[in-house]
Amino acid sequence: MTRSRTRSPLARLVALLLLAAAWLAGCAGLAPSGHPHATPPPAPQDRQAPPAGPGPRLQDPPELVSRDGVLKASIGVERRKVQVGDHRLYALTYNGMYMPPTLRVRPGDRIELTMTNRVREDTNVHVHGLHVSPRSPADDIFVAIKYGGSHHYTYRLPRTITPGTYWYHSHADMMSAAQVAGGESGVIIVDGLRRYLPPSLRGITEHVVALKDFQIHGDSIRTHKLKIGTRTNRTVNGLQNPVISLRPGETQLWRLANIGANIYYRLHLKGGRFHVIAQDGYPVRRVYAADTLVIAAGARFDVLVQAGGRPGTTTLETLAYDTGKAGNRFPRTDLATVVTGGTPMAPARIPTDFAPNEDLAHAVIADRKTVVFTENAAGDEFYINARKYAPNRVDFTSVLGTVEEWTVRNDSDEEHSFHVHTNQFQLMSVDGKATDPDHRWFDTVNVPARGNVVIRVPFTDFTGRTVLHCHILNHEDMGMMAILDIVPPRDRGK
Ligand code: C2O
Ligand code: CU
Ligand code: CU
Repeated sequence: MTRSRTRSPLARLVALLLLAAAWLAGCAGLAPSGHPHATPPPAPQDRQAPPAGPGPRLQDPPELVSRDGVLKASIGVERRKVQVGDHRLYALTYNGMYMPPTLRVRPGDRIELTMTNRVREDTNVHVHGLHVSPRSPADDIFVAIKYGGSHHYTYRLPRTITPGTYWYHSHADMMSAAQVAGGESGVIIVDGLRRYLPPSLRGITEHVVALKDFQIHGDSIRTHKLKIGTRTNRTVNGLQNPVISLRPGETQLWRLANIGANIYYRLHLKGGRFHVIAQDGYPVRRVYAADTLVIAAGARFDVLVQAGGRPGTTTLETLAYDTGKAGNRFPRTDLATVVTGGTPMAPARIPTDFAPNEDLAHAVIADRKTVVFTENAAGDEFYINARKYAPNRVDFTSVLGTVEEWTVRNDSDEEHSFHVHTNQFQLMSVDGKATDPDHRWFDTVNVPARGNVVIRVPFTDFTGRTVLHCHILNHEDMGMMAILDIVPPRDRGK
């Protein structure tokens, strides 16, 4: 358990008075120097006043919440004209929404999800990162839901499933990139992160910060012949440069999720920092602060963000990012306007010790595997261990109840986003450099160009065929995916 870090009532009162004084000084133009929020403070606002800023107020996606241990959801896949950012375009929607409902569940819950396909190409859905069975009726990505057809998924979440941010998206064979780019992705939250927060932070406001981008083709979101390096429109929860509001000193929980098809983000909050409390749905052992966060395709970070003590406006941006000679150069882009205003709050102490973490550093290693990413010179064929994906070929076999060490090597001149289904993994090293044992669990990790990562994967709870792939979905669709069969131990018979 984490220790409570609540300060004494007197200390809190003093802090509050100091803050109030600083706020008043700020309003009178007596800004203390050296404050990280360099923007001059706007006129005093009352709490109800709409924040200044270029975009609409940030809206969280609607939520479907489990009740009595069950989440019942129906999702219709439909091509519909919707508002995306500043445009009205045909999108591949879930229930008519470019930013579909967040599925909010708890450990031990069951999800009953019926998906109906009203689009003239096969589809299906995958629950990215959730530790659930890869077999039907659960997370079987080999299912193809035909036009006009439905499929009923049942996912049983173990009680031990780790809390945090996950997501769901199309995993249609050869069409994942098209369908996710078109809009077929949403967020899943497994509740439970708050219990690791000190009592003073357990009630904090949280926001989904879902990162999706779209390119335009006529009156539609472009879905086919996607070029990763083409100018794209980056949105937060489907909104163009929305306004996120905080009170001075307020701490919020932001669920940063890269749920687009292909691109990377290098997030930066001008004048602020991200305090990471979970990565890919796995709470960290110790909270760490980051000025920038590279979010590879498919990855998520749950972070605490604390507003400065004075009113002001700043920017959540993605910085320029280069994925290598054979890759892409993404330009710097504003993502959201962050406005601090209203009644100040005493800034809470950001916790350090957070959640217990399993550690496989001393595990018995049952097998070692090497996964090599390569591509052709034209950049239209992608391979794992020199082979393109084939839906009927098992590429790797692992035994339930064991731990394996995999070296994922990137023999190409661009970064790839390694992801494996069903089990999260412990990242041991990147390019030979050991990772910090206090935060090294992921389900998706960037592999540097001409570099490598070493991971340890525990095969627990579930057998069945599943996949590993690059989460740059263009690459996945063009071959960079392989099948992993998790089999029962031999001594238990067939
Ligand atoms: Cu988001 Cu095969 O995964
Ligand atoms: Cu996945
Ligand atoms: Cu790739």
